[in-house]
Amino acid sequence: MPQRGVTVWLTGLSGAGKTTISRSLEQQLRCSGYKVQVLDGDIVRKNLCKELGFSKEDRDENIRRIGFVAHLLTKNDVIVIVCAISPYYAIRQEVRQLIGNFIEVYVHAPLNVCEQRDVKGLYKKARAGEIKNFTGIDDPYEPPLNPEVECKTDSESIVESANKVLAKLADLGYLP
Ligand code: PPS
Ligand code: MG
Repeated sequence: MPQRGVTVWLTGLSGAGKTTISRSLEQQLRCSGYKVQVLDGDIVRKNLCKELGFSKEDRDENIRRIGFVAHLLTKNDVIVIVCAISPYYAIRQEVRQLIGNFIEVYVHAPLNVCEQRDVKGLYKKARAGEIKNFTGIDDPYEPPLNPEVECKTDSESIVESANKVLAKLADLGYLP
């Protein structure tokens, strides 16, 4: 059976583990022979979304662009993995509708855990007021109400989280 396109949309706070889980997923899916494309907000913001900042309008525009590219790839039978904070519920619903074959993954760790990890030192800067509109600090995050998968990265390993997503993909018939 040919590969079917789908978008796996990882949403969650900075430092929750979106990028880490995406790498594990990408590697495992590639090893099994699937065509995979990762769209990571951090990278997309250096090219396709270079001029965008972190206001609500700019974040929504970022998600709309990522969603559009994910839609095109999904139509062409690619497994797309998006990692973007995507803090607003409504725009996530909009891209879900556009893409159709859509699996929302809530990558969750409590704010204090993300802040302790502070891999990029951004929380420290946000607390010091050097970065404004930082998600979870002085900018909102609206959690998914009904995600297909929830990964609790403070209590499960990366492999466990990635396996949950793979199991959901298999359940829904995306891994023929
Ligand atoms: S969004 O909200 O979905 O448009 O954001 P996204 O494209 O995923 O970009 C998030 C990454 O940008 C860095 N960064 C910030 N994040 C949140 N708020 C503010 N103000 C901010 N400024 C810079 C940060 O590295 C995010 O990457 P991740 O991987 O989530 O930590
Ligand atoms: Mg990341």
